[in-house]
Amino acid sequence: MPFRSIVKKFGVDLTYSEMISSNALVYHSEKTHKMIQKSPLETPYIVQIAGSDVDVIKKAVLILNEVEGIDGIDLNCGCPVPKVISQNSGSALLKDLDQMAKIISCIKKYSNKRYTSVKTRLGFSEKIPSKIAKVCENEGVDFVAVHGRTRSGGYKAEVDYDAIKEFKDSTNLPIIANGDIDSFQKAKFVKEKTNCDALMIGRGAIGNPWIFYQIKNSLSEIKKDKIKEIIREHLNEVIKFYGKNGVKIFRKHLHLYSKTLPNASAFRDKINKISNPQSLVDEIENFFT
Ligand SMILES: Cc1cc2nc3c(=O)[nH]c(=O)nc-3n(C[C@H](O)[C@H](O)[C@H](O)COP(=O)(O)O)c2cc1C
Repeated sequence: MPFRSIVKKFGVDLTYSEMISSNALVYHSEKTHKMIQKSPLETPYIVQIAGSDVDVIKKAVLILNEVEGIDGIDLNCGCPVPKVISQNSGSALLKDLDQMAKIISCIKKYSNKRYTSVKTRLGFSEKIPSKIAKVCENEGVDFVAVHGRTRSGGYKAEVDYDAIKEFKDSTNLPIIANGDIDSFQKAKFVKEKTNCDALMIGRGAIGNPWIFYQIKNSLSEIKKDKIKEIIREHLNEVIKFYGKNGVKIFRKHLHLYSKTLPNASAFRDKINKISNPQSLVDEIENFFT
């Protein structure tokens, strides 16, 4: 499955697509369309675009308007990758809030989807949460996801939850807090600290997808049976999406799921040789007891 960010909000789970370059959507639409393929489980479904040129953004929005099942368009104002920055896209927009406003306004004007949203960092090098919040509010976005780092902070600087709170306090927009949420306890802490409306979890779900079940059900611990059930469901969905090739793709997830358990190394050796889906199901049954 392509990288997805999942948002937890009062029992409603939003799914975000991987960022789509508006240029790619306009000029290489076949491959890019595959990236936005949606599972029926992913509702509401938000497609994220990146770009800095109003005309290209407009064309990308018009293309997405023709795709059914998309509930909203999100503007990426957080990507730190040099190739994206050099095109004045992603977090580079935080250096030019007027341009950011123009792009949001263009999405709002042409999109036929229910929601327009923004995913942002706290700033490019300087933290400017309230200024960004005002741009989003003035342009009429529906909600904002805030990754609590600047672009300079990359993926490792300490996440500034106070600055996410400042963002939240500067606006009436619903705010999704993001950054380093890797456990039920941390989710609770971030929710209380920022007073946010929802949480977005990326890396913390890798090897630990039951974090969503725990948050939804307020569980500080998770039972082994539930873990096994979630692993089985994950395998089923991966096989549905990738076909037989899914068995191979699923190995890396099983490596993570088994990592801290006894005899993990023998289990890894075994599953690395399996290519039949049912044999993999049997091994999972035996190992996760
Ligand atoms: C491999 C990878 C790909 C990512 N792709 C996107 C993306 O396409 N769009 C986006 O808004 N954020 C993207 N992010 C950033 C995450 O959404 C998130 O803001 C960041 O990882 C911090 O949250 P986390 O600690 O929960 O992972 C990506 C992060 C990683 C590690």
